[in-house]
Amino acid sequence: MVAHNVTILTEEVIRLNKIMRLNRKTHILGKTSVNNFLKNYWQKKPLLIKNAIANFVSPVTASDLFTIAQNEEAISRLIEHKQGIWQVKYGPFKRSDLLKKTNIPWTILVQNINHYLPFAESFLNLFKFIPYARLDDLMISYATKKGSVGPHFDSYDVFLFQAQGVREWKISDQKKFTLDKKSPIKIITNFKSKNSWLLKPGDMLYLPPNIGHWGISQSDDCLTYSIGFRAPGTFEIQSNFLDFIQDHLITNVNEIYKDPNLTLQKNPAEISSNMTKSIRGIVDRLRWDKSSINHFIGQFLSEPIESSIFEAQKPLSLKVFEKSLISKTLRLNPKARMLFIKNNFYVNGEYIKIDKKYTPYLKCLANDREISLESTLNKKDLSALGIILLPLYLSGFVGFI
Ligand code: SIN
Ligand code: CO
Repeated sequence: MVAHNVTILTEEVIRLNKIMRLNRKTHILGKTSVNNFLKNYWQKKPLLIKNAIANFVSPVTASDLFTIAQNEEAISRLIEHKQGIWQVKYGPFKRSDLLKKTNIPWTILVQNINHYLPFAESFLNLFKFIPYARLDDLMISYATKKGSVGPHFDSYDVFLFQAQGVREWKISDQKKFTLDKKSPIKIITNFKSKNSWLLKPGDMLYLPPNIGHWGISQSDDCLTYSIGFRAPGTFEIQSNFLDFIQDHLITNVNEIYKDPNLTLQKNPAEISSNMTKSIRGIVDRLRWDKSSINHFIGQFLSEPIESSIFEAQKPLSLKVFEKSLISKTLRLNPKARMLFIKNNFYVNGEYIKIDKKYTPYLKCLANDREISLESTLNKKDLSALGIILLPLYLSGFVGFI
């Protein structure tokens, strides 16, 4: 089952982009300015935004979600609360699994919807006030009346946008939680609600990490979009850095330990101070500087999610590619991550070496996730850009619209 069966018409995306006035960065935060949000709420405290988008009608339907949940690559969960026990099943699902109507409330959550639907990718533009390096994905859940994933907390920041139907959100201000040991999912057993709100289509709730929350659908057609942010753990950063250093070790691989001045040891099992000193010297020769750490950061943060598959394209001559470059819009694959540090670019964990002169073009591709080159571009520059971009095209990281 391929996801492009799910078609959201391009005109619909354009219409919604207009409604959402994507250029007005503050729009999605209602009366709260971006600066106020970053200073007082981001990673600090919850914020309820009524009418974040007025008159919102979700272009994504429950049926679209069910279609994506059948895809082998998609990450989805179905959660039911049966006889006091929270039960979870993982996708891919069959449509019949989802259409069976039971009188037990249920919910399905599908991650990375922005990889499947152009609308979902453009919806994320509304959150451009947070750097792409922190953005994870757009997850969408569908729930029947009373459907829920239960009271829990997440380790990540999230915007919960009510797209269809009504959901009650309860949040707590507890610092200590006890978890249900019997449950296969993380459920808080001592949840105490501090605030509760009814979110209608177009309303949104921002939650920083570790806030206890519980969203319960109040209608049979509840769709909630979760815009989730990622934050790597210290261990993850350090262990990935050690792997990076290992892969980029510049050392004499043929050099081996030598001890031409060996003298007789009293205890043959003892590691002598000469030997520890000599090996310490080899370890001490490992060096990294700011620039190698920055390369690591760029490659690490631009790694795509593990399940991403990029289809390699048929070989193409540079000439043909250049022609397309000036006649079509080049767009990043929705699954691709492209970031930069000063004038160094990273796509899907790979460092892209370029002449400084071409950085404005690459910055445009990274920021807007697409670029249309002028047909007036001179031959030399077009060919230089072709040489930079063709390998990305052949790897399936970018494509033409
Ligand atoms: C949802 O049920 O759509 C949101 C899940 C969550 O609270 O993280
Ligand atoms: Co949550």
